[in-house]
Amino acid sequence: MNNHKKMKGIILAGGNATRLYPNTSQISKQMLPIYNVPMIFYPLNILIKAGIKDILVIVSPAHSGRFTNLLEPMFRDVGVRILSTVQEVPGGIAEAFILGEGFIGNDNATLILGDNIFEDAETIANAIKNFKSGGHIFVKEVSDPERFGVATVNKSGIVTAIAEKPEKPESNLAVTGAYIYDNKVVETANNIKPSNRGELEITDINNVYLQKGELKMSKINGEWLDAGTPDAYLDACILAKEKKLYEKFDSLILKAVEIGREKFKTQAKKMLK
Ligand code: DAU
Repeated sequence: MNNHKKMKGIILAGGNATRLYPNTSQISKQMLPIYNVPMIFYPLNILIKAGIKDILVIVSPAHSGRFTNLLEPMFRDVGVRILSTVQEVPGGIAEAFILGEGFIGNDNATLILGDNIFEDAETIANAIKNFKSGGHIFVKEVSDPERFGVATVNKSGIVTAIAEKPEKPESNLAVTGAYIYDNKVVETANNIKPSNRGELEITDINNVYLQKGELKMSKINGEWLDAGTPDAYLDACILAKEKKLYEKFDSLILKAVEIGREKFKTQAKKMLK
């Protein structure tokens, strides 16, 4: 019997992005341009670099059509299936595995937050390719850990605890918005309870894996940004330009953009006639 499970990809691109209002009143945050491509291309790049061919994008009701219109045909041309589903209200990051239950089926799942920009796409893509079981998180040293999930590690580098936005962080290691799990994540997400802020917390899922001794952690290199504020958004655009992040995208993405551009030109010509 072949026990090898496939890896599915999920991008969480909902939420209201009120900190970026009015930029986000007509367009979702994850569709805002990061220099020359929409923000969502950054998490897409990691999933596609890892060889994932099935991707679910979770979006807010206000913006659902736009994602489908752009992404679905563009990536179908290069053999990547993109589906989308609506999250009616932001019920927490872990809700992605409940909304995505049917899509995940019996497979494993990688979740990436739609507003996370990683300079180091390679470390995450390689971990996805080599993933066997359990959970795998990615941390980054930051100066303001209280804004994030924070990992405490012992002298051997093993994670001993994860806290969500702790007032007194035990380390400066922020848990970034990329998570790889085996299929048990679906059951785990269905079993956790909402936190004090009323959300199904990804940190609670990580703690379940941690308690079972099944959570791996890798440090990522380079810069990592969560582009949710005007300053962080601008920093992400500058990072993308200065480090030429687009040129390092997976060749399938570059091909999808070029095919899309040709179709767009043809359409524009037809409109002129
Ligand atoms: O960026 C990494 C951090 O993301 C982690 O360190 C934290 O452990 C994790 O809880 C999360 O923290 P935030 O409070 O920054 O997450 P936020 O609520 O801003 O959501 C992150 C993105 O996910 C945001 O672009 C909106 C989207 N989202 C969020 C929630 C809660 C949804 O699409 N649906 C949701 O229900």
